[in-house]
Amino acid sequence: MDFDKVIRDRKSTRKFKKKRPDWRDILECIEAARYAPSAGNLHATKFILVDNPEIIADLSEAADHDFILDAHYVVVVCSDPTQVERAYYERGEKYLRQQSGAAIENFLLKLTDLGLGGCWIGAFVDDHVKRVLKIPDRVSVEALIPIGYSADISRRSKKPDQDSFFYFNKYGAKFLKPRRVVEER
Ligand SMILES: Cc1cc2nc3c(=O)[nH]c(=O)nc-3n(C[C@H](O)[C@H](O)[C@H](O)COP(=O)(O)O)c2cc1C
Repeated sequence: MDFDKVIRDRKSTRKFKKKRPDWRDILECIEAARYAPSAGNLHATKFILVDNPEIIADLSEAADHDFILDAHYVVVVCSDPTQVERAYYERGEKYLRQQSGAAIENFLLKLTDLGLGGCWIGAFVDDHVKRVLKIPDRVSVEALIPIGYSADISRRSKKPDQDSFFYFNKYGAKFLKPRRVVEER
């Protein structure tokens, strides 16, 4: 699919068709996530592919989102801080959040490219998810991504106009002052 179309077509999908996606497509999305930037090229982001309906039901409860029950797959994204915090100390925590976000976006864009839908879920009871998936204490859960073919006909969410968040030279400066050009003789 055309790059700009993928970016514009991606939207959160909260309703899924009964048709089961091919799990190899999901592996392709994980492959796309592998190419995301990461601090020091330390790849701390981990992915758990869940297809067991009982575990999916548990994750739906942990997130208090019923639509997760209709997903054929849920990918759970985690960060292992061990190497990144050793390299970057307290700044490492910020890097872990940022690089997992970059990996998640690559993942979601590849889902769109393959005609699949998913939703970035950040609200869940961490301990519940960790207990169900046997995730070690030191590892943090970044997101749950329920996946399926979209049956979601809701409108695309409205995005802010560019001039509401884009500044020139200084934070909050909305206008670009023309530079005086000194002509060479
Ligand atoms: C960090 C983060 C956490 C999110 N958590 C949830 C969530 O818990 N439940 C949910 O339904 N959507 C969640 N979303 C999806 C947003 O609601 C969605 O991206 C936003 O409404 C914009 O819609 P769009 O993704 O269709 O462009 C989350 C998105 C992000 C980036």
